[in-house]
Amino acid sequence: MKDKVVLITGVSSGIGKAIAQLYADKGAHLVLASRNLDALEKLASALKEKTSEVLIVQTDIANSDDCKKLVSETISIYGRIDLLINNAGISQRSLTMDTNIDVYKTIMDINYFGTIEITKLVLNSMISNGGGQIAVISSVVGKFGFPFRSGYSASKHALHGFFDSLRAEVSDKHIDITIICPGRIQTNISVNAVTKDGSKHNKMDKGTAEGMAVEKCASLIVKAITAKKKEVIIAGNEKKLVWLRKFIPGIYYKLVARVKSV
Ligand SMILES: NC(=O)c1ccc[n+]([C@@H]2O[C@H](COP(=O)([O-])OP(=O)(O)OC[C@H]3O[C@@H](n4cnc5c(N)ncnc54)[C@H](OP(=O)(O)O)[C@@H]3O)[C@@H](O)[C@H]2O)c1
Repeated sequence: MKDKVVLITGVSSGIGKAIAQLYADKGAHLVLASRNLDALEKLASALKEKTSEVLIVQTDIANSDDCKKLVSETISIYGRIDLLINNAGISQRSLTMDTNIDVYKTIMDINYFGTIEITKLVLNSMISNGGGQIAVISSVVGKFGFPFRSGYSASKHALHGFFDSLRAEVSDKHIDITIICPGRIQTNISVNAVTKDGSKHNKMDKGTAEGMAVEKCASLIVKAITAKKKEVIIAGNEKKLVWLRKFIPGIYYKLVARVKSV
């Protein structure tokens, strides 16, 4: 990856930040995007000790102008993007019957529309530069539904439909697509999750706190991207629900119906 241009969204904390550190170790030229400018600046100054080239672009991926600026600034400085990692996302903690429709729209604007907008903007330049790789961080709940996460799960399922279709469309254009489905990972995902009225959940869930260490998750993500895997699940016991949903759905339906709190 030395001197390759790697654009990562959602790097101000969690999985994106840990992935950025690993690509800095490899000497990649990093383009880092998130809304929190202070966090971006701190990360960039830490990473500059490992790799010479770090560009930060304050970006809200739900804002079209921000997405266009992010990609055009990257292309004007580096001339290309070799690897795009669509990582930015928000989760949800609320029952469907209580949740305002605007909350669903916000989740889709970030997790789905923001992600596909950046992907579409990057795609043409990747194809004209002879190829590249696009990774997207989905979730195990992109493979099955789960209570209190109807909007989040739907947004991740949508990513599978989009990226499986795109993979087929660009299979003769040297573009590799990697869909990553983490289970519970120790990050601020539950703290930052939106609730029924759009306010923050602001709590560290027990499941998240007991999940996989973020450094281990990031290293498995980088391994899957390097191996150009089409899809990978990075999880503990949650992995079993993916299998049950596919092969013995009756047991999956019963198990998830028993979940009565976040
Ligand atoms: N942790 C888990 O258990 C888990 C499991 C499965 C999948 N995932 C997925 O992993 C990805 C990273 O999440 P995480 O666990 O690392 O959670 P996190 O610590 O909350 O990080 C989320 C990142 O996304 C960024 N982000 C959120 N909204 C954004 C927006 N509108 N524009 C730009 N950036 C935005 C945040 O930065 P700013 O707030 O600065 O914008 C932050 O850097 C997400 O896609 C999530 O769905 C996580």
